[in-house]
Amino acid sequence: MNEREVQFEDSGSLQPFPEARGPRVVLRAQGLTKVYPAVAGAAAGEVELFRGLDLEVRAGEMVAIVGESGAGKSTLLHLLAALDKPTAGEVYCGEARLSRFTSKQASEFRNRDVGYVWQFHYLLPEFTAVENAAMPLLARGMERGAALQRAEYWLGEVGLGSRGHHRSGELSGGEQQRVSLARALVPEPKILLADEPTGDLDSKTGEAVFELIQGLHRAHGLTSVLVTHNTDFAGRCDRMLRLKGGRLEELKQAD
Ligand SMILES: Nc1ncnc2c1ncn2[C@@H]1O[C@H](COP(=O)(O)OP(=O)(O)O)[C@@H](O)[C@H]1O
Ligand SMILES: [Mg+2]
Repeated sequence: MNEREVQFEDSGSLQPFPEARGPRVVLRAQGLTKVYPAVAGAAAGEVELFRGLDLEVRAGEMVAIVGESGAGKSTLLHLLAALDKPTAGEVYCGEARLSRFTSKQASEFRNRDVGYVWQFHYLLPEFTAVENAAMPLLARGMERGAALQRAEYWLGEVGLGSRGHHRSGELSGGEQQRVSLARALVPEPKILLADEPTGDLDSKTGEAVFELIQGLHRAHGLTSVLVTHNTDFAGRCDRMLRLKGGRLEELKQAD
């Protein structure tokens, strides 16, 4: 159970979402612009990744984002996770406006409301799988026994029930990515953001990790955004979008 829903008092002058069919919008990027300013003395001028980008992700959807390297996919995912702030535009999660978060609200949002999986897992190799999976709970001060118990449950969910007491540095690449998935889901967030989670894995292991993500997405009613280079995986998501030239092109729409 989540102890808390995303609800922040300062929702500002939020425009109500337009009435639409289907499930509610969970994540909405509106007019999103990201420009890196020119650095004095550097040869390159300013870098404009996207300008006025819009995206809506509805409850329960699994949306894939594809695009060439350097297109800005990771930057977009960072903005959706309140890991970075846009130059202009806004990301809404329900009623919350991410650009208005204080740093404390942003870290709470990242700790509780979104699960994030990176291409490289960033586990702590000297700690066991269960300790790694429990990190978000330990970081917020949950009692150790309770945190480890919840992490054990999530290791079971990712198919690593028997490997919990191995150091993460002793696990295979696929197992490590499973631990990082357990760590992302241990706070029981509603949103899962995954940035090329199978990019470092061989094709068989990548297939197993993709199937696991899709299975957990469905079983736990998540709303997910998956960045991937694998167009087969992307085609098996509800929607496939391509980030190209600063625009999101819909390659496959929900039925
Ligand atoms: N601080 C920065 N200053 C200037 N350019 C940056 C900065 N951070 C990232 N970039 C550029 O933004 C582009 C998009 O990066 P990224 O979002 O990682 O793309 P992708 O994930 O699609 O490969 C890259 O060309 C990168 O060099
Ligand atoms: Mg990237």
